Amino acid sequence: MSANTRLEVSLDALAHNYRHLRSLIPASTELMAVVKANAYGTDLVRLSKELDALGADSFCVAYIDEGLALRSAGINKPILVLHAQIDSLEKGVDAGLDFSLYSLDFINHLAEVAFSRNKQATVHLNLNTGLNRLGIKPAELEQACSTLLASPQLYLGWMMTHLAASEDHALHGFTQSQLEQFIAGHKRAEQLMGATIKRHALNSSGVHNYGHAAFEAVRTGISLHGFANDPVLDRHLKPISSLISTLSAIREIEAGESVSYNRLFVAEKPMKIATIGLGHADGIHRSLGHSGFEVLINGQRAKAVGNDLYGSLYGRCDPYRLQRARRSTHLWPAKLCRNDFSAGRYHRL
Ligand SMILES: Cc1ncc(COP(=O)(O)O)c(C=O)c1O
Repeated sequence: MSANTRLEVSLDALAHNYRHLRSLIPASTELMAVVKANAYGTDLVRLSKELDALGADSFCVAYIDEGLALRSAGINKPILVLHAQIDSLEKGVDAGLDFSLYSLDFINHLAEVAFSRNKQATVHLNLNTGLNRLGIKPAELEQACSTLLASPQLYLGWMMTHLAASEDHALHGFTQSQLEQFIAGHKRAEQLMGATIKRHALNSSGVHNYGHAAFEAVRTGISLHGFANDPVLDRHLKPISSLISTLSAIREIEAGESVSYNRLFVAEKPMKIATIGLGHADGIHRSLGHSGFEVLINGQRAKAVGNDLYGSLYGRCDPYRLQRARRSTHLWPAKLCRNDFSAGRYHRL
């Protein structure tokens, strides 16, 4: 990022979103804050500390290193590693992290490591009910439970699944079938283990659309950042991040003149074009210039045009806006572009 570009995060908005999510789930249901991928491209430690202070019950990260960073920052609540890498399991077990059991092989590896470290790890059995990313298949449940029964160094506290389409109403039937498979799998696992196992299944859109399945915990990420994947529900949330940059040039072009590589944008009338000091290095994808992406220049919407170079994105502004522009540009503004940027440099997993 250039010296003139910064990502601002509103902790007030974060608190607002946290409280709103809390209001949607039963008081007895735990809220797990999903802070993987550098807290969706923001600041893992800063946001997690804030969420810890707000009362989040636990945290979810993708990798062990993220969990270790939270432990080093003084977070002592449970931290679930969703996709632990085999080669750093020792460090994760020693730090008392929880693990999602995402394959039969992984259960065996973790059991060996916990045994060798003489530690007990809390584990969350991840049942793949249709997303087909991570998790054991329902047909593998018996084998998983028999390994767990033979591995007292792994404490099966929870069972989880991840929904494939909780934001898509057209796929309501698919989501319901995922939840039904999960409920049946959980019942079977409790029988096999002879113990009570807590459950979590809902991500943010799950909380908004399938509140009846909140179970003992929910895992929310994007709604903490202010998005509900639905324009109506979005109104209850506040986007927490703004990407702020500066205008490095303002030029006038005539009708027929073009902007950017491959003449991607051709002006139909005389207009002013501002060059913004942002580009690939900031996680800005070149497709943003021709996908209706907008920026705010001094509080006014301006369309991005053209693809970006190493460090510039072009914004098309009317003269009135430019007169008022004070060389400061606010990108990723409230509600204008959802999580496009978190899908940039730090890809949302
Ligand atoms: C397993 C798991 N649970 C929960 C979440 C949070 O999802 P969302 O950001 O939609 O709340 C994620 C994020 O992708 C995830 O991978």
